[in-house]
Amino acid sequence: MSRSDPHSCFDSAQARTTHLDFDLAVDFDRRRVAGQVMLTLERPSSGPLDLDTKGLVIASVRTDGGRSIAYETGAEEPILGSRLRLTLPAGTEKVVIAYETGADAIGLQWLAPEQTAGRRHPFMFTQFQPIHARTMIPCQDTPMVRVTYDAAITVPEALTAVMSAGPVGEPVGSEAGMRTVRFAMPQAIPSYLIALAVGDLASRDLGPRARVWAEPATVEAAAWEFAGVEPMIQAAERMFGPYEWDRYDMLVLPPSFPYGGMENPRLTFLTPTLLAGDRSLVDVVCHELAHSWTGNLVTNATMDHFWLNEGFTVWAERRILEALHGPEAAAVSWAIGRVALDESVKRFGADSPFTVLRTHLEGVDPDDVYSSVPYEKGSLFVALLERTVGREKFDRFIRAYIERFHFTSVTTEELMDFVERQLPGAAAKAGADEWLNRPGVPANAPVFRSASLEAIVALAEGWATGARPAPAQLASWSPSELLVYLQHLPRQLPEAECRWLDAELKLTGRGNYEILVEWLTVALGSDYEPVFGRARDVLLKVGRMKYLRPLYGALGRHPRTRALAREIFAAAAPTYHTLSRRVVESVMEKYDG
Ligand code: BES
Ligand code: ZN
Repeated sequence: MSRSDPHSCFDSAQARTTHLDFDLAVDFDRRRVAGQVMLTLERPSSGPLDLDTKGLVIASVRTDGGRSIAYETGAEEPILGSRLRLTLPAGTEKVVIAYETGADAIGLQWLAPEQTAGRRHPFMFTQFQPIHARTMIPCQDTPMVRVTYDAAITVPEALTAVMSAGPVGEPVGSEAGMRTVRFAMPQAIPSYLIALAVGDLASRDLGPRARVWAEPATVEAAAWEFAGVEPMIQAAERMFGPYEWDRYDMLVLPPSFPYGGMENPRLTFLTPTLLAGDRSLVDVVCHELAHSWTGNLVTNATMDHFWLNEGFTVWAERRILEALHGPEAAAVSWAIGRVALDESVKRFGADSPFTVLRTHLEGVDPDDVYSSVPYEKGSLFVALLERTVGREKFDRFIRAYIERFHFTSVTTEELMDFVERQLPGAAAKAGADEWLNRPGVPANAPVFRSASLEAIVALAEGWATGARPAPAQLASWSPSELLVYLQHLPRQLPEAECRWLDAELKLTGRGNYEILVEWLTVALGSDYEPVFGRARDVLLKVGRMKYLRPLYGALGRHPRTRALAREIFAAAAPTYHTLSRRVVESVMEKYDG
């Protein structure tokens, strides 16, 4: 047996799956997905074939000719789920598994109509990264294996299904009140990029190859917010090579979506908290778009190399931002990232193994150690390599890297071998070993300077000595600059100072969630009562983990805010995604009283 991904029972001595054919029905009443999947193997095989499953109820396993195949379900392990071992008769190339999903499939979230903008129809969506595809699909659930897929998805007639794939033909009516939609994904992707969402959806075209999907109540706002996506795609293509996925569509989900964005190919999933009304949060779109090269073309081999996906993508996102809006804007984004990195390192402890880039996560749930480290420490390391060899050489390197490894999965070691061949000596000069294998942030981390940024930070750091921004100054700041200012204010302020800030900056009423949440974090941590109502509204609605962690964290500082947190969580928990609920529980476990 060759086990090479600590989070999968994929055995590299066995045949790989190359294609999946889904025939699935989405049952909102029972909150189950049921039907069958046919796996095509790379070669005719016999003997054991190990698949990942979690919570799936298997009805039968057969060859495509209908011969039954023996199978055995292993013990359920808390993180990994259970191994489904098939014993293939000689010459088996296709396997058909009939099954349905379990009751608490973490890869699926089912929303009641009240949790949507329209409040009339239910909604469901998948989130398979890092290791949740196995809760909907029996498969080799590791990014070391890539598959193409076809799907026939049957949904209630009033609803629309979308996938990380292209649509095929028009939906056809099937049994009463249902219809079947077909999809094809001709490019090979890892299982974590398979995605499905079903709801009351409308769409607007944004350009020749981009469209946005959202609930009818939000689709106009979404089309306005993301109207600038085509120039973004073009800027990315100039740096990283042609966009290989045909279309770049986006789906705006209901607010319980636990992430800011998810780079499902051809259909990025986005949180509605990006709809700030001023296009100030499109950096998340830029990030998910950049994954079209770093992540989706060149994929981390396992979650131990997750920084390859996120570190390169954050670096790429900021290069695109720089190309579109200039180095000052990019410097602001690097500064915001650095604050997030320092916060994560503080949370884990500076010598924690979860602050290294190349991790060793055997026995560890990747969701439990999700943080800014692979993003921000990873992107700083990429930027350091860039600075070490100069931009021109590094840009050639990046293109070569993408060309050499596109549609494959890579490990940190494979990357570094390639770096050594293409940029001899650069890794040693940058101190790569310390960056990759030791905890904390090395002292040679790049710093991105800008005069206006330094002035903003200095002004915030002078708060205690009475420094205050002048109205004209405030008016000149971009939303990101205002965020930097708020990030550098003291974490607790007297009531009068909270009142001054809110009056001058109109923070509680903001629609930009980055600013709003940063403000609420300070205000709640200061026990500032006038924001309690707004905080309650946000926490009852929004499930984005990036916001839940600091808000519930700040609520833990005072007895009456702790009581408020418990009251809000009791009401909100049933509407949160399991992942969001777990994050909040882990924060509240650390409350003092
Ligand atoms: N791929 C990630 C989201 C993810 C990572 C989901 C690991 C599950 C496991 C996505 O590209 C991402 O990084 N989203 C960020 C966006 C931000 C960095 C601009 C988010 O959700 O906040
Ligand atoms: Zn990402």
